[in-house]
Amino acid sequence: MSVIDDIKARLDIVDVVSPYVALQKSGRGFKANCPFHNEKTPSFVVNPERQSWRCFGACAEGGGAFDFVMKAENMDFGQALHLLAQRTGVQLEKRGDPEKSDILHSVNRAAATFYQETLKTEEGRQARNYIDSRKLNDSSIEKFILGYSPSSGDGLKSHLLLHDFKIEQAIEAGLVRQDEESGRTYDFFRGRLMFPIFDRRGNVVGFGGRALDDSNPKYINTSATSIFDKRNTLYALNFAIDKVRDQRTAVVVEGYMDAIAAHEHGYTNVVASMGTALTEQQVAQLRTLADKFILALDPDAAGQEATLRSLESSWRVIQSNAAQQRQRSQSALSQWKTTDLRVAALPEGLDPDALIRQDASRWESIVADAAPLLEFLIPNIAARFDLTVPHGKSQVVDAIWPLIAALDRLDREQYAQKLADAIGVSMEALRASVGNHRTSNRQSRRTERYEPPPEVTESTLNESFAEPVEEYILALLINKPDLKEFAENFDSQCFYSIENREVFTNWMSCSKIEELWDSVDESLHPHLTHITTIDILSVELIESERALTEMLRRLQRRFHIVDQQNILISGPTGEPPPRELGERISEINESIRQSEHMGVWRK
Ligand code: UTP
Ligand code: MN
Repeated sequence: MSVIDDIKARLDIVDVVSPYVALQKSGRGFKANCPFHNEKTPSFVVNPERQSWRCFGACAEGGGAFDFVMKAENMDFGQALHLLAQRTGVQLEKRGDPEKSDILHSVNRAAATFYQETLKTEEGRQARNYIDSRKLNDSSIEKFILGYSPSSGDGLKSHLLLHDFKIEQAIEAGLVRQDEESGRTYDFFRGRLMFPIFDRRGNVVGFGGRALDDSNPKYINTSATSIFDKRNTLYALNFAIDKVRDQRTAVVVEGYMDAIAAHEHGYTNVVASMGTALTEQQVAQLRTLADKFILALDPDAAGQEATLRSLESSWRVIQSNAAQQRQRSQSALSQWKTTDLRVAALPEGLDPDALIRQDASRWESIVADAAPLLEFLIPNIAARFDLTVPHGKSQVVDAIWPLIAALDRLDREQYAQKLADAIGVSMEALRASVGNHRTSNRQSRRTERYEPPPEVTESTLNESFAEPVEEYILALLINKPDLKEFAENFDSQCFYSIENREVFTNWMSCSKIEELWDSVDESLHPHLTHITTIDILSVELIESERALTEMLRRLQRRFHIVDQQNILISGPTGEPPPRELGERISEINESIRQSEHMGVWRK
């Protein structure tokens, strides 16, 4: 993941915008008087789903968090990048400060060893009994470096100081806390069974500490530090990585205990998401190692809820990666492999740990029989709504359709049928309702079809991931500078990715590739390298010209469609938008219609 992706993933557009404007909740989004121009009726909308903002009034501008900060603070891209990096705690030099990371790794490693030793002492007896009651074997205890944190409150602190670590280092690693008022320092983990958390290379980056009884919280974990972020960490990945890579398959469970039980029984391609819904960062990481993922759901309702929530985000990353791959391997379509995302539903009352210890062969067959995501999702989501009323049915369609729409044609037909069956409507009715809810507006119906054109599918994908069409456009323009005249006056806002937008605007005002390299921020250099190495089809200039205009038009059309959706989601659900916005929608419709003709951006 690039630094920029990392920053984006940590930002929420609503948090970014709200210090500058008083946002009012409105439908699925927010609206406000535009902070960039004077107005009486709010025409500034924020769309949390797309993580974007837009002024539909005089400014007629919009974008993501970066664009907002650039405009609000009057900064260029590089300045905004530094500000947001600082705000999100992302280290700009990707390699971080190697010395500092080394120190944090070693202070964590020293703590793990200390906890491990303490477990073997008299003080650790209760924890040892607890471990016994959980049936963990000695080699797991050794391998996962389980330990015990003394309850005294300064055992670790004294140990670390004795071993020449500084108190600031222990605080920075999240192992020691400082009371703000008294300045007193004390151990963060006290009287808990300790699970060191490793990064994929096996460095200790943090800890989970379990209570030895039923007290709450059951676990406390190291808070975020410069080397530890729960959202992009997968527990046991360091032990699982080779197997996952070999088998191209990863099994994801929720808990520390689940992962340990699995590894203990030889299922070494298992990693744990650490209780949170699987995040996009976690999926993106796994996606580089495997093509098949099996999510083992906790059977309890909360676990299922978490998984359902995580599925959509996982799916988006996977789809966006697939779209990107599909684009790259145009010439070698056959090499393109789809991602297989499955869900293993565990029996009532048994989490993976309990199941594996009770009946490993049953676990094995449940994992082997895991159902494809949509097979699982369709009945499960359908069961959550009242299907006796039309509203309930349309809520199910709302939740599931985006996933179906992202599939290729054959699968799409198949799952559309399953969805129709599950909610008890005909395919015709489903088609009609899909037409409806995608646009929620009669006027714009003709801009949408049952079979979404690819650019619409892409627009539902996460912004922090690659935009293959945008990248191809840039590659084309860079390789064939003669084509630049056809992109003159093209509205750079139509590029969703801030990186691509930046490259585009800079390239349009440069004449040589060297100038481009100099003009963009250094943090964009990896992205620029990527773009300049994209294979563009070697065709006649006239063909490229056609391809370019076609793709630019697609971007423009997508932009208008999203614009329209932004207006629609900003209104209270079910109500027609206010008159000004209604007019704006008609205008956008007109632009969409016009953009069917070539070169409308050429003023
Ligand atoms: P579980 O409650 O399923 O825990 O939470 P577990 O790992 O199975 O532990 P046992 O079997 O009850 O001892 C799953 C994961 O969610 C995170 C932890 O990473 C845990 O492993 N979690 C859970 C927390 O971070 N805090 C909590 O209070 C609870
Ligand atoms: Mn458990």
